[in-house]
Amino acid sequence: MALIQSVKAIQVLDSRGLPTVSCKITLDNGITASSTVPSGASTGTKEALELRDGGDFYKGKGVEKAVNNINTLINPLLEKLDPRDQQLIDQKLIDLDGTKDKSNIGANAILAVSLAVSHAAAKDNNVSLHEHFLEIYHNITGQKVNPSLPMPMLNILNGGEHADNNIDIQEFMIIPKGANTFKEAMRWSSEIYWNLKSILKEKKLSTGVGDEGGFAPNLQSNEEAIKLIIEAINASNLIPGEDVFIALDCAASEFYDGTKYNLAGENKSLDSTAFANYLEELVDKYPIISIEDGMDENDNEGWKILTEKIGSRCQLVGDDLFVTNKTIFQEGINNNLANSILIKFNQIGSITETIETIQIANKHSYKSIISHRSGETEDTTISDLAVGLGAGQIKTGAPCRSDRVAKYNRLLWIEEESPNINLSQ
Ligand code: PGA
Ligand code: ZN
Repeated sequence: MALIQSVKAIQVLDSRGLPTVSCKITLDNGITASSTVPSGASTGTKEALELRDGGDFYKGKGVEKAVNNINTLINPLLEKLDPRDQQLIDQKLIDLDGTKDKSNIGANAILAVSLAVSHAAAKDNNVSLHEHFLEIYHNITGQKVNPSLPMPMLNILNGGEHADNNIDIQEFMIIPKGANTFKEAMRWSSEIYWNLKSILKEKKLSTGVGDEGGFAPNLQSNEEAIKLIIEAINASNLIPGEDVFIALDCAASEFYDGTKYNLAGENKSLDSTAFANYLEELVDKYPIISIEDGMDENDNEGWKILTEKIGSRCQLVGDDLFVTNKTIFQEGINNNLANSILIKFNQIGSITETIETIQIANKHSYKSIISHRSGETEDTTISDLAVGLGAGQIKTGAPCRSDRVAKYNRLLWIEEESPNINLSQ
C-alpha cells in the first residue's frame, strides 16, 4: 500500500492558450499520476474561485500563485497520506483553504490535487480510473451505482461566449440516442458533423470552429441553427427525433440584463415569460429534449415558469444555476427549479464534493450530466467519472479538436475493454 511522497505542480496551457494548473503526484513506490484542470468562459457567479495572478504576464491570467500553493503548502500537507483516502485528503485541502469559495488556495490548485490523488490511487490499486470512482462513490455515500457508458451530447454549432458570431444561444448539441453502442453514437455524430460542414460550405457560411470545436457561422436566428442541424442529420441518413435528438445550452445569464433576455442576433428583448414561450415553441417544433440554463442563474421566477411549462417533457439542466454546489442545488430542488444538473468539478473544486452533489441528484431523481469546460486540456478524467458514477450523460464538445475528442476516445477504449458496461439510453 503506497503512500504519497510528493505533490508537484507547474503552469501549463489550456485549449484557448491560457495558463492552467497541472499536478503530478508521486507515491513512495515510484508510481506517478497527473492531472490538469479545465477553465470556463461563461462561468456562473457562484462558482468556486479560480486563482489567477493578475499583473502583466499572460494578461493577468497566470496561475503561478495556485501552482506555488501546491508546491509549498499542499505538498507537505499530503506527505505520507494514503491516496485511497480521497475524502480525508479533500477535507484537508478544504480546511487548508478555509474559505467558502476556495479563494485562498484556489479551486484550480485544490482540484488539480484532488484529481491527481484519484489517478494515483487507481494506478496503485491496479484498477481503471472509472472502477476507482465507482468505489469512491460507495465509500463516500454508502450507496452503490451501476456503471454505464454515458450518452454523449455533442456541441456541433457554437454561439454566445464561445464564438465570435451573432448567435445568442451558446450551444447546439446533438444526442445520438438511437445508437446501440458508444462506438455507433460517435460514428453517427462524426458523420453529422461532417455533413453540417458541407451544408455550411454550400451555403457559403463560415466553417471556422468555436472554443468547443463546433462550427460558428453567422446566421439569421437561433432557429436557423437548429434547421441546419436537422438538415445535417437527414443528410446522414438518420432520423431527427428518432435516431438523433437536439439539445441546447442557452447560457441565458450571458444575455439577461436583470429584467429582459436580449437576443441581439434576432433583435428580440423578452421578459422571463416571453423567453419561456420562445423556448416552448422551439420544443414544440423541433426534437429538442434538453435545455440547459434556459433562464438566468438568479431568475428563480423564470426558472419556475420554464419548469412548469416544459419540465415534464424536456430535460431542464441547471449549470450556472446550481454550479455543482450541493447547498445551492438543494435550495433549487426545494424550489422545484429544473430537473437535471450539469456537473463540472471545477465549479466546486474537489472530487468528494462533486460526488456529494451527484448523490443529491440521485436521491431527488434529478439527472446528472458530466461536463467539460470551454477551456480544456488533454485530461480525460471526466470520461471515467461519467462511467464510474453511472451518470448517464456526458457533454464534451464537438467530435473535433484533441481537447474534445480525447474524452470521447477515452470512452471508446473503456467500451472496448469493459464488455459488461453498456451505453446508457
Ligand atoms: P464554460 O461553458 O465552460 O465556458 O462555462 C460551458 C457551459 O456553459 O456549459
Ligand atoms: Zn452551460
